[in-house]
Amino acid sequence: MASVLITYRLPKAAVSLLRAAGHTVTMREQETLISPDELRHAVQTYDGIIALLTDHFSAEMIAAAGPQLKVIANYAVGYDNIDVPAAMAKGIHITNTPDALTGAVAEHALALMLAISRRIVESDTFVRTGQYIGWRPLLLLGTELTDKTLGIIGLGRIGSGVAQRATLGLGMHVIYHDLKPDRQFEKEYSAVYYPKIEELLAKADVVSLHVPLVPQTRHLINAARLAHMKPTAFLINTARGPIIDERALLDVLRQKKIAGAALDVFENEPELTPGLTELSNVVLTPHTASATAETRTAMAEHAAKNIIAVLAGQAPLSPVKV
Ligand code: DGY
Repeated sequence: MASVLITYRLPKAAVSLLRAAGHTVTMREQETLISPDELRHAVQTYDGIIALLTDHFSAEMIAAAGPQLKVIANYAVGYDNIDVPAAMAKGIHITNTPDALTGAVAEHALALMLAISRRIVESDTFVRTGQYIGWRPLLLLGTELTDKTLGIIGLGRIGSGVAQRATLGLGMHVIYHDLKPDRQFEKEYSAVYYPKIEELLAKADVVSLHVPLVPQTRHLINAARLAHMKPTAFLINTARGPIIDERALLDVLRQKKIAGAALDVFENEPELTPGLTELSNVVLTPHTASATAETRTAMAEHAAKNIIAVLAGQAPLSPVKV
């Protein structure tokens, strides 16, 4: 029997599975996130930890871990909160929750595309604030997505899921950038590979980001690259905030150099770059792309199964390697 900490309240499935496997489970019930001191204590105490993407396991934190810690199961697909090489060097397994959230995040990216291009949030505010005095031919005109070009940056599971839904559901044309082309995907979705990001940015009507946050993708979308986008284009980010230089984005949005942006993640979240909330050509959601009841339960089950496998001496379902 091993001990497992869950650093924040999760759907019950995680606790049930872990207990059924014979483990002692502690799930923090506090509203506050676990503090660095509490986390340091946890890495010296528990055999397994289910962590949030906001729990930081730096090299220093990993160095403080006791020999009993076998696995950190991140309750997320992204794992930029964990120094994976440091953990691997210490023999601590790191796992994530791919697949479980692909559909939910892809749907959210589409929801953001539609919300920004059809001015849904602006329209909602317009009605709620009593400005609607009757039908008008030119009231709140938006942009249609059908037949427009969607530029996907990062054709992993979620990027492909967005491309698939946008092609089949909305009749968009997909172009994409990644480190290498995926010829099978191109055949299935008539997609076109762009080896140069700048050329994709210049061609796309909507750009959707789906790369992980690593040193090479920090500020991937900076002032110079934003300058390549069309004045009519929209930028969507459901990946990680620091992939965009948020100040540079604010500038182009203010100057209407692009048509709008819809963001689920922020460079210094939960802090927002001052001025962002004043703009009407943005839609903002609080990192909720994977927040569906189905997906958050599937993520809890997946994280628990990763812990159970490692503590039973088996390979985890979804190991993270670098
Ligand atoms: C993830 O899993 O990395 C997402 O950002 C959580 O919604």
